[in-house]
Amino acid sequence: MRALQLVLFLSFLPFLKACNTQKDDCTPNDNTTYMLAYSNDIDPVQVRAVFFALQDSAPRFVKMARIRFDVQQPEEIEYLDNLDELISSVNNLLPDPSLSYSSTSEGSDVISVLEKFLDNTQYPICGSRVNFLVKRLPTEVDVESIVAKLRKFRVEVYFSIAANVYGGNTLDSLNEIAFRTNGLSQIFVNDVLYRGLFASRYFTTDALIYAASFNVSGEGTIELPPMIVKNEGAHEFILSYKDDPLSDAFQSATLTCTNTITNNTVTVIYDPIETVNFCIGDEYFDKGNYTMKLEYKYANQDVERLFIQCSTTVTTESPDYWVPYND
Ligand SMILES: *[C@@H]1O[C@H](CO)[C@@H](O)[C@H](O)[C@H]1NC(C)=O
Ligand SMILES: *[C@@H]1O[C@H](CO)[C@@H](O)[C@H](O)[C@H]1NC(C)=O
Ligand SMILES: *[C@@H]1O[C@H](CO)[C@@H](O)[C@H](O)[C@H]1NC(C)=O
Ligand SMILES: *[C@@H]1O[C@H](CO)[C@@H](O)[C@H](O)[C@H]1NC(C)=O
Repeated sequence: MRALQLVLFLSFLPFLKACNTQKDDCTPNDNTTYMLAYSNDIDPVQVRAVFFALQDSAPRFVKMARIRFDVQQPEEIEYLDNLDELISSVNNLLPDPSLSYSSTSEGSDVISVLEKFLDNTQYPICGSRVNFLVKRLPTEVDVESIVAKLRKFRVEVYFSIAANVYGGNTLDSLNEIAFRTNGLSQIFVNDVLYRGLFASRYFTTDALIYAASFNVSGEGTIELPPMIVKNEGAHEFILSYKDDPLSDAFQSATLTCTNTITNNTVTVIYDPIETVNFCIGDEYFDKGNYTMKLEYKYANQDVERLFIQCSTTVTTESPDYWVPYND
């Protein structure tokens, strides 16, 4: 009898394994994983600074993950149970120059970190968020393939990128991956990469309610898709307005949001900031639908890709649906 049970059990194993697939039909409220991934090429001070002023993690981030990349011997992702464990683990494994690639021209392995994250079958990936601190660009990126995989599991990817990077020439590819997964890609001068966390949704309760992207040049006014505000309260607008913080072509932008029933108008005015390629504005919105109009002005005629996102902030209830992707 024992033997029979054992045989049955063993024959069942491969079946269990085959069934151990990640679910891809989660909602923004389901339990999931948060990962911090940092290049070994950045100053350890930047990695430590990440944890100084962060909010508590939202309860749905039941797993915290960590990985140091751009090291000669690729490391594994470490999974932890809470924020305290994440902080102490990161502090134990800070960037270490003796582990770095020998050449600044070598490409980053940031994309294989994403692949590795998606390959894990033990911890939830659907609805997860990943912050990357990037000092080195990969040399070649199959954007379509990785974006398709990330979208399947609703993973939001945030890149915080040094203006002065090593490695490849693939900034556009990282931008694509971030914005096409409804994440963010942000550039910082002077390598203050920790600030990219604060400018993202990292492991907060903040949730995306609106995302739009379009190409502009010179100056003009465009009508954006309407925005649905399901829960009234404070919201945050992020506008990414140039590829390069060292360019001063961006002059101004004004976003006018008008409630389709009450005609109440919320105006967000953006002035350029010299050390980053994005700006943020906090605004209160009543429930309802809004028409969206953007006036913009650049000093030159280059085609620039603008990305606009609106998220709930801590006191505002998050929506229970995913914002559709746009290309
Ligand atoms: C989410 O995680 C919490 C804490 O681990 C647990 O108590 C809860 O049952 C989980 N919810 C679901 C739906 O699995
Ligand atoms: C915007 O421009 C980029 C290249 O600069 C192009 O890949 C993309 O398709 C354009 N998007 C739209 C909506 O025209
Ligand atoms: C909103 O504006 C439209 C067009 O100007 C007008 O017809 C409508 O009466 C206004 N609604 C309110 C509530 O003021
Ligand atoms: C807002 O737009 C959604 C989707 O188009 C629609 O279902 C809803 O009825 C609209 N609500 C209002 C108050 O206009």
